[in-house]
Amino acid sequence: MQRRSGLRTSELHLRLGGTSLVLDTPESGLPSIVHWGPDLGDVTEEALAGLVTASRPQRVSGGVDEPTRLTLLPLQADGWQGTPGLVGSRAGAGFAPSFQVTDLTADDAGLVLTADDAEAALRLRIELRLDEHGLLHQTLRLTNSGDDVYDLHELAATFPLPHTAGEVLDTTGRHLRERTPQRHAMTVGRYDRESRRGRPGADATLLLAAGTPGFGFERGLVHAVHLAWSGNHRVSVERTITGSSLARVAELLGAGEIRLVPGESYDSPEAIGSWGDGLTELSGRYHRLLRSRPQHPASERPVTLNTWEAVYFDHDLARLSALADAGARVGAERFVLDDGWFRGRRDDTSGLGDWYVDDDVWPDGLTPIIDHVTGLGMQFGLWVEPEMVNPDSDLARAHPDWILSAGSRLPVSARQQQVLDLSNPAASAYLLERLDALLTEYDIAYLKWDHNRDLLEAGAGSPAHPAVHENVVALYRLLDELRSRHPFVEIESCASGGARVDLGILDRTDRIWASDCIDPIERLTIQRYTNLLVPYELMGAHVSGPRSHSTGRRHDLSLRAGVALPGHFGIEWDISALDPEVEAELTAWVAAHKGHRELLHHGTAVHADLPDASMDLRGVVSPGRDRALYTFTQVTASASYPPGPVTFPGLDDERSYRVALADPTATLGGPGQSALPWTLDGVVVPGRALRLGGVQAPVLFPESLVLIEVTPA
Ligand code: DGJ
Repeated sequence: MQRRSGLRTSELHLRLGGTSLVLDTPESGLPSIVHWGPDLGDVTEEALAGLVTASRPQRVSGGVDEPTRLTLLPLQADGWQGTPGLVGSRAGAGFAPSFQVTDLTADDAGLVLTADDAEAALRLRIELRLDEHGLLHQTLRLTNSGDDVYDLHELAATFPLPHTAGEVLDTTGRHLRERTPQRHAMTVGRYDRESRRGRPGADATLLLAAGTPGFGFERGLVHAVHLAWSGNHRVSVERTITGSSLARVAELLGAGEIRLVPGESYDSPEAIGSWGDGLTELSGRYHRLLRSRPQHPASERPVTLNTWEAVYFDHDLARLSALADAGARVGAERFVLDDGWFRGRRDDTSGLGDWYVDDDVWPDGLTPIIDHVTGLGMQFGLWVEPEMVNPDSDLARAHPDWILSAGSRLPVSARQQQVLDLSNPAASAYLLERLDALLTEYDIAYLKWDHNRDLLEAGAGSPAHPAVHENVVALYRLLDELRSRHPFVEIESCASGGARVDLGILDRTDRIWASDCIDPIERLTIQRYTNLLVPYELMGAHVSGPRSHSTGRRHDLSLRAGVALPGHFGIEWDISALDPEVEAELTAWVAAHKGHRELLHHGTAVHADLPDASMDLRGVVSPGRDRALYTFTQVTASASYPPGPVTFPGLDDERSYRVALADPTATLGGPGQSALPWTLDGVVVPGRALRLGGVQAPVLFPESLVLIEVTPA
C-alpha cells in the first residue's frame, strides 16, 4: 500500500470496491474531487494529471479572477459563492475562514488531511475513505485553536455530483406512510431535506439521490448520500450557476448548540455516499456494508409474533399464553410482549418512565409468561421506550428536572408524553440500571426500543440550551453500554414505526420497524424505499389480521404474507382462535419464509422498473446468481388486459433458468380466462430474455400476489 505522508501532490487516485475517487490537490487551498463514481482502472500518471487539468474551469466575465472550484469544504475564501461548507463565528469575528493544508496522508483508498486557518484560529481535519463496497465515507473535525468560544452553526460534508445528474429522488412520509418517493428536476439553486424532530422522522429521506433523468432501479447513473446520525440533519443537493453540482450532508445544529471552548473539537457524524448504474447497484453497496459489520446478526432471523395489534394494552396471562401457543403452532420463533407491561401503563396516557413490572397485571412478574414462551421453544422479547416519560408517572413526579425543555414550560405534549434528557448523567444512569436489571432478572432475548414522539424545544441545563446533539450521543452511549453488558440481546429500532432509521442507530441495533402500517399495499412502497438503505433481514415485516388496523382495508392472507415474506418476518394478529384452514395457510407461509430465508437474507434485493405502475415485481437473487425468488403483485387493475410481460432483474444474462410459480395455492384463471401456459409446468428461459422480455404476467385480481421462483435450468 502506497503512503504519501505530508506530501502535496497535484492529483490523487483512490480506488476500491469498483469506485474511483480522483482528487485535485493544488499547492494552495483545499483539494477538490474531480471524479467520484465508476472505477477508472489503472490510470497512468499522465492521464490522471490530464483528467485534473481537464476539470479546471476558465475565468469568465463578471466572475472572480481565480476560477472557483468545488473543494472538500467550499468557502468564500476560495471564491465559492454557493452554500459554504462551514458556518460559525466568534460573536461575528472569524466568519470567513480560509484553510491551508498542513498535512495530507493518503493511501490507495483514503486520505486524511489537516488544514489550518491561523487568523480564524481554526483547525480542520477531513477524512475520506473508500470501502470494499465502493462507498465513500467522509468525516470532518473542526477544532477551536483560539482562546475564546467559537459558535459552530454548520459543518457539511461535500460530495460532487456529475453534471448529468438532472433528477432528484428523495422520500417523504408520515406516521403510517413512511418513505413515500418524490422526484423533481435538479435545477440551479438548493434543495434541502431537513429533520428538526430530534430523530430522523417519518418524513426523513434515507437517501438523497440525484441521477441521469429517468434513472430507475435497473439503470441510469445515480449518486446518493446518507448521514449516519439519529438526530437533526440537513441533506441538500445544489447546482450553482458556475456549473457545480453537489450534495451536502450535515448535522442540523440549534442556535448555540455547539459552542467550542478553546481546544475543543466537533466531529461531524459520518456521511456516506454511494453511486450505481441504477438504484439497485447503489443500494447494494449500503446493504453489503451493513452485512459486513461484525455485529450484523449471524443467526437466522427468528419469525416473530408481536402482541401489539393482537391485544394492545389488554395484558392477561391466559390470553397471552393462548396467543403464544398459537404462535408456536404456526412456527413463530420469537414472542414480543409489546407496550403495557409496566407500572401504571393501562393505556397510553401514563406510566412511561416507570420501568418496573406492573404488579396488578403481572402479580408474579414476567416469569410466568416468559417460562411459557420459552417452554414452547420461542425467544422472549420485551417492548421499552426508554427516552420517554409520561407526566403521569412516578418518574416525572420525582424528577421533573430530567425532562427536556427550553426553560420553565414543558414542550407541547405528543402522545401525552415528554422526553427525558439523556445527557443528564442521573437520568441515563436510571435508565441503564432499570434496563440492565430487567435483562439480568429475566430471560429476555430482544428489546423493541420505541420512540414515539418528535422532540420539540429539546433543551437541557440552566439556562437551557439546545440538547439534541448531546442526547443522540448519550443514547448511543446507553445502547453501547447495554450491548456490552448483554451482548446476546438483540435490539429493534422502532419509532412510531420508521421514524428512526439511519446507519447511526443501525450500528447499535439489529433491525428496524419500517412502519406501524402493516397494510400490504402501503407496505409495498414503504418496504421498497426503506430497502434503498436497509437490507431485508434488518427490516421488520409482519402479517396483519385480515382487516388492516391502519387503513381499514381487507386483504387475502397470500398478499399480507407475500409482501412480508422477504423481510424479518413476523405476525401481528390475534391468531389464538383462527379457523383451522386459516391457521394451516398461515403455517404454510411461515414455512415458505423459513424455506427461502437463507436466500432472502443473504441475496441481492432487486426491483423491476416496469412501465405499468399497476404491476410490482421485486425479488432477491442469490449471491451466485443461480436462483432467485420474486413476488409479482397486481397492485391495481392492469392497464392492459391481459397485463403483458414482467421482466426479472438481477439474473445472469449468460445462463438459462427455470421459471415457475412457487405458491401452489395460487388461483390463476377465472371466468373467461385460460390457464397461463408457462405456469403449468414452469418454463426454461435465457437470463437475458428474462431481463429484457420477461414472461407474461398472470391475470390477477387487483391487490393480489404470486411468488415466482427462478432456479437453474
Ligand atoms: C409504536 C410502535 O410502532 C407500535 O408497534 C407499538 O409498539 C406502539 N408504539 C406501542 O405503544
